[in-house]
Amino acid sequence: MTTLITNIKYLFNVTEQSQPLKGKALAQLPSITDAYLLIEDDTIIDYGHMHDIDVKITHKPQNIIDANGRSILPCWCDSHTHLVFAASRENEFIDKINGLSYAEIAARGGGILNSAEKLNNTSEEMLFTLAMERLKIAQLMGTGAIEIKSGYGLTLEGELKMLRVIRRLQKATGMIIKSTFLGAHAIPAEFKDNKEGYIQVIINDMLPAIAKENLADYIDTFCEKGFFSARDTAQICEAGMRYGLKPKLHVNQLNSIGGIETGIAHQAVSLDHLETLNEQEINLLGKWNGISTLLPTAAFFLKMEMQPARALINAGATVALASDFNPGSSPGANMHFVIALSCIQMKMLPEEAINAATINGAAAMEVLNETGSISIGKKANIILTQPIPSLAYIPYSFSHNIINRVMINGNWIS
Ligand code: NIG
Ligand code: FE
Repeated sequence: MTTLITNIKYLFNVTEQSQPLKGKALAQLPSITDAYLLIEDDTIIDYGHMHDIDVKITHKPQNIIDANGRSILPCWCDSHTHLVFAASRENEFIDKINGLSYAEIAARGGGILNSAEKLNNTSEEMLFTLAMERLKIAQLMGTGAIEIKSGYGLTLEGELKMLRVIRRLQKATGMIIKSTFLGAHAIPAEFKDNKEGYIQVIINDMLPAIAKENLADYIDTFCEKGFFSARDTAQICEAGMRYGLKPKLHVNQLNSIGGIETGIAHQAVSLDHLETLNEQEINLLGKWNGISTLLPTAAFFLKMEMQPARALINAGATVALASDFNPGSSPGANMHFVIALSCIQMKMLPEEAINAATINGAAAMEVLNETGSISIGKKANIILTQPIPSLAYIPYSFSHNIINRVMINGNWIS
């Protein structure tokens, strides 16, 4: 079926180049004023100025939609989430209000281990239902491609169950979904004094079983004091890489412990979090060609210093933005809010934030040839906005819904 959308006030992020945007290039966001967009089945096949429409559109499309002054931008590409989990953790949220720290909550058996216990007691069917509800909400908020991690199983069965749910979400929705194995998210209670033993379970039991069912695209480690060291991270990355899983890592959330050097040495696709960076690390990321993924809602929710986005961009880094949706540090997948926070709190320009959440998010999932911009041949993943006066209005009106409708793979989401 052919769908023509006419009278689009602004068609944002129209480009035929397919490279991630590094440093200064992040501020370039090409758009067409008074545009049309032509879609065939699930693919963008043409676009242009309204005044060229008669010349360019020779066959009458089956379906014509008058955007009537509303605008279009590519769907968000949310490249870092933990969307599969068994239960929310608002009880810990209250503990935090009452003054307990993230570390104190974790030490009490809260945090990731709390989520792991609940997940291991929840059926695959139930997890799938819960995850599907969350994914639907993310879609309605404009997310058209997403990465989802395991890491709340921390047992062979639990990790397999999570990864199977991720693959089922992919099959059920047809959406671009990348799957990351994060067995090294925390040290389970039974391995409290035997981290090495748990790493051996990850390498010798979990990875072969995951590879056998082809359940993961990437390998991840929470490289952090009290969790996994840079050396552990290197060991786990190398084991994952033997099964074809490229690293996508949690580094420098709370401390600088060598995760960045390790990730770069292991050709990570992305290094994520980056709240805590020294100058040398900023320069390393600036020179690197991988993606530096910032998760501002996690810093916001944990009341941490925001990521140094400006310094990273000025150093030349390829910055992406993602939601980190998880029950502990970022309980939501609202990419509009992620973008708004990056502008309000991290001094990113609206163009930079939107590029970071679309083109560079797609690059952080290695799907830039399929999505992330309005380009011929890419998936028809689009956000039809409410009438808005400008691009900058999107982050500016942070608490209003700017979305009218969302199309993913050529289908309107309802
Ligand atoms: O990305 N930092 C590690 N993992 C998650 C939080 C997990 C949790 O608290 O459940 C994150 O922020
Ligand atoms: Fe995370």
